Amino acid sequence: MGKTAAVTGATGFLGTHLCERLLADGWNVRGLRRPSSDWGRLADSDVEWYVGDLFDEPTLRSLVDGADAVFHLAGVGLWSADPATVERVNRDGTANVCSACQGADVGRLVFTSTAGTRRPQGDAEVADETDVAEPIGAYQRGKAAAEELVDRYAANGGDAVTVHPTSVFGPGDDSFTPQLLAMGLEPTMPAHLPGGLSIVGVDDVVDGLLLAYEEGESGEHYILGGENLTYEEAVDRIAEHATGTAIPARIRVPATAIHAAGPVAETVGAVTNRHVFPFSRGMARLATSQLFYSSRKAHEELGYEYQPLEAHLPDALEWYREEVRA
Ligand SMILES: NC(=O)c1ccc[n+]([C@@H]2O[C@H](COP(=O)([O-])OP(=O)(O)OC[C@H]3O[C@@H](n4cnc5c(N)ncnc54)[C@H](OP(=O)(O)O)[C@@H]3O)[C@@H](O)[C@H]2O)c1
Repeated sequence: MGKTAAVTGATGFLGTHLCERLLADGWNVRGLRRPSSDWGRLADSDVEWYVGDLFDEPTLRSLVDGADAVFHLAGVGLWSADPATVERVNRDGTANVCSACQGADVGRLVFTSTAGTRRPQGDAEVADETDVAEPIGAYQRGKAAAEELVDRYAANGGDAVTVHPTSVFGPGDDSFTPQLLAMGLEPTMPAHLPGGLSIVGVDDVVDGLLLAYEEGESGEHYILGGENLTYEEAVDRIAEHATGTAIPARIRVPATAIHAAGPVAETVGAVTNRHVFPFSRGMARLATSQLFYSSRKAHEELGYEYQPLEAHLPDALEWYREEVRA
């Protein structure tokens, strides 16, 4: 009999890939889904569904009880909800998962936070796990608070590790991946952003989640990153891979334009309760920075490896052409 995994966020981008991998590896997989969730690719799978949300404590308890691993991935970003909900779901939802685990017969909790709670300090080019940053915005605040809860759970005798993916790239994502691909592929969108980021393939993050379960040390944090690329490098490599040539007359959106949009986005949000990119002044500064990360700790302690962008492009492009553009 295989091991049992309990997965929150099973219906999401990363959760779907994780469930598929766990099933392929012979695990019994329990997934949390809300009554409203679209469970798309997993509809015909062997995932055993538990219906409820992160605030439904009896369902959470039965989800985790008897599980060898609890992968807590459920979370919400600023694109999908108002800031108060974003902070509450990420923080209090994680508190509920920790409480459910506390009273249950449960193995290791693997919590998925974000690399965004870390940033390069001073003149450093990359950030590692020690570079804890002042949170900017409700998403980072919620995740930072959740990390403290998970650390406390581990310090009080629970078994828990936290992983920090960078920008996850792959099929099934409805935000970052199609935006980046559009910047590289669409002649009507010949623009890219200033700044840069660490792009990690979704399959590499799934490997990292399993390695964190198998090899991680309780109470520890591991960045799961990929290649550090400027937006310009990333969109050129996407265009080159897809068409054989980089699109020459690409316009860099000036950082000043994005900085200027910060207060506008704040005002629109305050007046209409609609949240538009870059959401706030702080987020505008983030969007124009080089947010580069080191995955050295995960490599040395877990055996984590990541592939270059081109390794992830065939699957992502096929999905983009068949399901996003179609
Ligand atoms: N994608 C990235 O680039 C990235 C980078 C760093 C960290 N992360 C973190 O990785 C995790 C997974 O990200 P993702 O990209 O897969 O996100 P996603 O596609 O938006 O999926 C989010 C999942 O959380 C579930 N969820 C949201 N609110 C919930 C609630 N109140 N109760 C129960 N479930 C709830 C959603 O359920 P429904 O299907 O019902 O909406 C969905 O299954 C998140 O914690 C995210 O913060 C992602």
